[in-house]
Amino acid sequence: MPEFDAATLAWQDQYKLMIGTVTPRPIALVTTLGQSGPNAAPFSFFNCIGAPPPMVMFSVGDKESGAKDTVQNIRETPEFVVHIVSDAIKDRMNVCAVDYPRGVNELAEAGFTAVPSRKVRPPRIAEAPVALECRLMQMLELGRKPYHLVIGEVVYFHYHEGIVNERFHVDVGRINPIGRLAGKGGYTRITDRFEMPRITPGGAGKGD
Ligand SMILES: Cc1cc2nc3c(=O)[nH]c(=O)nc-3n(C[C@H](O)[C@H](O)[C@H](O)COP(=O)(O)O)c2cc1C
Repeated sequence: MPEFDAATLAWQDQYKLMIGTVTPRPIALVTTLGQSGPNAAPFSFFNCIGAPPPMVMFSVGDKESGAKDTVQNIRETPEFVVHIVSDAIKDRMNVCAVDYPRGVNELAEAGFTAVPSRKVRPPRIAEAPVALECRLMQMLELGRKPYHLVIGEVVYFHYHEGIVNERFHVDVGRINPIGRLAGKGGYTRITDRFEMPRITPGGAGKGD
């Protein structure tokens, strides 16, 4: 069985093992606001943490020249909006991943419609099926590269019509999210779903 001592691996190989192993990853398209205007970028080191309060996290590595625009903007304005990347907006998401110079508005480059948020200053993307307005709780600097682990409190939820019912059940099929796999262009859809109720002594269903 192949096995590896992480201490003996080059960082590039550690990274390849990480992104190839932890799959599929949801993708957050994050809007932020800095002195040079709004910014949007996708992050697949992303997940929810729990509630209450509702909390999400994503992780941003540095580029050669230093912190990415998303991190710089969150330092200036400690708020952001997380959008779930659906199949319908995947190509525009991909445009937002281009390493444009600071000040270039990726929202405009991608052809997204920026609309005002309710409780935070960065705009949200109208075309995204879900938008979570967040206030920064903590930004942790981790690792030697380093990574910035951004933790946010969700203060406002937006959904396109027909996704959430009156009991707050979310129809994932109507979001139709894509997930990130390994490699330069690896993604997946949720076209092969199944249900497996949790087994509990009392028989009642339990959340994760
Ligand atoms: C699907 C996808 C997922 C990505 N996930 C991450 C990630 O989790 N962390 C990261 O630092 N960069 C990630 N990137 C790269 C950033 O999106 C890219 O560096 C972007 O230009 C950063 O933009 P900014 O400088 O405007 O913040 C990802 C790119 C794509 C296409």
